[in-house]
Amino acid sequence: MENLVAVEGVKKTIFGVGAVNQIIFECQSLGTSRALLVVDRALSETKICTSIQDIFRNSPVKTIPYFEVTPEPSPDLADTGAELAKKENADCIIGIGGGSTMDVAKAIAVLCKNDGKILDYVGLNLVKKAGLPTIMVPTTAGTGSEATFTSVFTMKETKTKGGVNSPLLYPHTAILDPELTLGLPADITASTGMDALTHAIESFTSLQAHFISEPLSLKAIEIISANLRGAVYSGSDIQFRNSMMKASFLAGMGLAMSGVGAVHALAYPLGAFFDVPHGLANALMLPYVLEYNYPGDIDKFARIARAMGEETEGHSKRDTAALAVKAVQDVTRDIGIPRTLKDLRIPEESIPEMAEAAMKVKRPIMNNPRPMTARVAEDIYQKAFEGM
Ligand SMILES: [Fe+2]
Repeated sequence: MENLVAVEGVKKTIFGVGAVNQIIFECQSLGTSRALLVVDRALSETKICTSIQDIFRNSPVKTIPYFEVTPEPSPDLADTGAELAKKENADCIIGIGGGSTMDVAKAIAVLCKNDGKILDYVGLNLVKKAGLPTIMVPTTAGTGSEATFTSVFTMKETKTKGGVNSPLLYPHTAILDPELTLGLPADITASTGMDALTHAIESFTSLQAHFISEPLSLKAIEIISANLRGAVYSGSDIQFRNSMMKASFLAGMGLAMSGVGAVHALAYPLGAFFDVPHGLANALMLPYVLEYNYPGDIDKFARIARAMGEETEGHSKRDTAALAVKAVQDVTRDIGIPRTLKDLRIPEESIPEMAEAAMKVKRPIMNNPRPMTARVAEDIYQKAFEGM
């Protein structure tokens, strides 16, 4: 039986091809007259950014560009963005991009109404007041940041990652337009799609999973298994993009409700120490951590194997559960994810230090369906170093 279940989330979700054209209407319904547009540097040079700016050009909503976000963002990006938003009297923050951009946008919104710097709020429930309203427009299908109450920052000096976690970070509106992901290169489609699969599997098997999150997570697993290969290799096919955008959002909701597990905890040090992008770090660690995790919840892993389309007839439940690990391995192989830490040139000597850092990512470690220790984390990294 569940513990107490309480669910919050994004207020309004708009999904569909062309949904981004609703953005002026959504701004106006929030009473917005001056919106800060938060975009990452790479995206700011693309057609996506100019076409969204064009939508605003002939509207009563003025935009203030903040096109400075870089991947695995540092906290000062939020601090600087908030200063600009306050100076320009912005009344809404719009994040257009991948997880890094949306995380920075959510943080800026909070800083506009709360004193201090974003590092003051790294932790759980430290934000005091609601921020400015936010609109999230994802341009990748993976991070699910448009559905979550978290902003993650990378602190280069201490080689750590930290998250601001508060229900006050939930975006007001998520505009999900699969057309915006049509031009994503295959490798980013692959790694962000694997991030979504990781959210789906980890939230489904989390010790905090419940009757509301489980069906969302499981549906996301099913959709991603059936569509990620297509999105990677036939990226201009809108059907695959449409399905991945849906799945990423469902997985993000699952993650927001029930959290992630040891895959994320073990992936974090790869990003913090060696700048491995979040999606890629998860994609690489996922099969290795699941190989350890599946005996911790045979029933759920058997359901994952079925959702991923594995042939399970005639297998015992335990063997069916093991097929989930194989199914995940097959996806990562098929879409060209690097297989080992060696492939990423991570030095073997760093394993003990990474294991220690992973254990500090407390909540995901606690959510994991099988108890995780520093010793086990070292073993998993060692396997990931050498390959399965
Ligand atoms: Fe993630």
